[in-house]
Amino acid sequence: MNPEAIMIRRTEDLDAMKALCVSAGLDMAEGPLEGVVVAYGAYLGDKLVGCATLQFADGGHFLEYVAVDASVRSRGIGASLVAKIEEEARARGMSDLWAKAKAPVFYERIGFRVLTEGERGPKNLDTCQTCPQFRSTCFPAIVVKLL
Ligand SMILES: CC(C)(COP(=O)(O)OP(=O)(O)OC[C@H]1O[C@@H](n2cnc3c(N)ncnc32)[C@H](O)[C@@H]1OP(=O)(O)O)[C@@H](O)C(=O)NCCC(=O)NCCS
Repeated sequence: MNPEAIMIRRTEDLDAMKALCVSAGLDMAEGPLEGVVVAYGAYLGDKLVGCATLQFADGGHFLEYVAVDASVRSRGIGASLVAKIEEEARARGMSDLWAKAKAPVFYERIGFRVLTEGERGPKNLDTCQTCPQFRSTCFPAIVVKLL
């Protein structure tokens, strides 16, 4: 098999997505992924090497669970996966897409804007405050893109 042949398609494999998010260093709650409305996976053969989802949580839809396996980063896979979720959001009539970003610069590169201190939106960093990674190894931000 051509090792470069990455396929991006819809997936419902929540277990594989969770394992990928954990191995990518995302701080994950116990149990299965919650509120996934639609998910896309990047596949190398049968192996999931990237994912992104549209999640319904706290009364709204958000971009969530974005991860790419370290072995295939910097090839545009993360950008392609987020673009799929943007299409899904547009198809649902959404005019903007919000996320809590562990890697804000990645999101800025693909057209998102980082909220400034004091700006309010439907997402916030409240749940980060008790995380041991917060502002030691993780410098998160809320990001938004107009669709
Ligand atoms: C962030 C992540 C999903 C990016 O995936 P990727 O497939 O490597 O990203 P892409 O190749 O599509 O990169 C798109 C652009 O973002 C930039 N970028 C990617 N990851 C970046 C990072 N961590 N910091 C800064 N810029 C980054 C790339 O250089 C590229 O910019 P360019 O178009 O100017 O060259 C991946 O690094 C990852 O899984 N990281 C760990 C988990 C994580 O932080 N997830 C984000 C959840 S909030």
